[in-house]
Amino acid sequence: MSIEFALLGEIISLSQDPTNTPLDDFANKVATSPQLAAEVVRVSNSALYGMEGRINRLERAVLILGMRTVAEIASSTLVASRMRAMSIGALGGDALWMHSLEIGVCSQFIARCLVPSVESEAYLAGLLHDLGMLEMYEAHGKPYSEAVARCQREQTPLIGLEAEAFEQTHGRRLLARAGDWHFPELLTQAIGYHDAPQEAPEASRSLATVVRAAHIVVVEPSKGWSDMPPTPEDDQILGDLGLQPEDVVDIRALMQERMKEVVSVLR
Ligand SMILES: [Fe+2]
Ligand SMILES: [Fe+2]
Repeated sequence: MSIEFALLGEIISLSQDPTNTPLDDFANKVATSPQLAAEVVRVSNSALYGMEGRINRLERAVLILGMRTVAEIASSTLVASRMRAMSIGALGGDALWMHSLEIGVCSQFIARCLVPSVESEAYLAGLLHDLGMLEMYEAHGKPYSEAVARCQREQTPLIGLEAEAFEQTHGRRLLARAGDWHFPELLTQAIGYHDAPQEAPEASRSLATVVRAAHIVVVEPSKGWSDMPPTPEDDQILGDLGLQPEDVVDIRALMQERMKEVVSVLR
């Protein structure tokens, strides 16, 4: 997993500095993985980007859609292939993947409505926020899958069970790893503190709060899995963002519509 995510970290970092990144350098970096490059071209040609059949090579995808969008497509396809191919005990990869996608899409809508300054980072922060669970499973194996099963069975936040059994949450685990993968600082911090945004460094607090709030908006995950079932702090988090109950309903509806399109392309 590390090699793939290290490549992804480099792709995302380059995409965030488009003025100093020649298009060819960026395309060559993506093409380091021919499979990833082929998937990027395939998804770029989908109805999702309005380019049906008109993008025949990676360089053209970068030119037409831009580096940030191509980095998002690369992230989406990589997360889909990694998560869907695995399971954590009884928790199937499809459920983990759908949760990541729902939180990504929802985070983007929340940011667009309420925190436009983080809109460009919100999808990726949401999509990647639970990657630390894969790392935790790799490190702890069966005891970790038992904690995940307990979270699902008892509808209790996973972070509490992780802290109790492993003295580390999946957010903090990723925080420790993402530096090796060269993920950009803001993104890394937001992912690292998505479970406790109030503890995040100030620069990443808004983005971490958006990802946390997405867990509240997605109250009924389509595959039944969320690592954060409702908690007593939820109203406070929505209040901090200025998210009104009617906004929650609207954003949920927007997310469900968008999810149909995204899933049909990535599947
Ligand atoms: Fe999480
Ligand atoms: Fe989550």
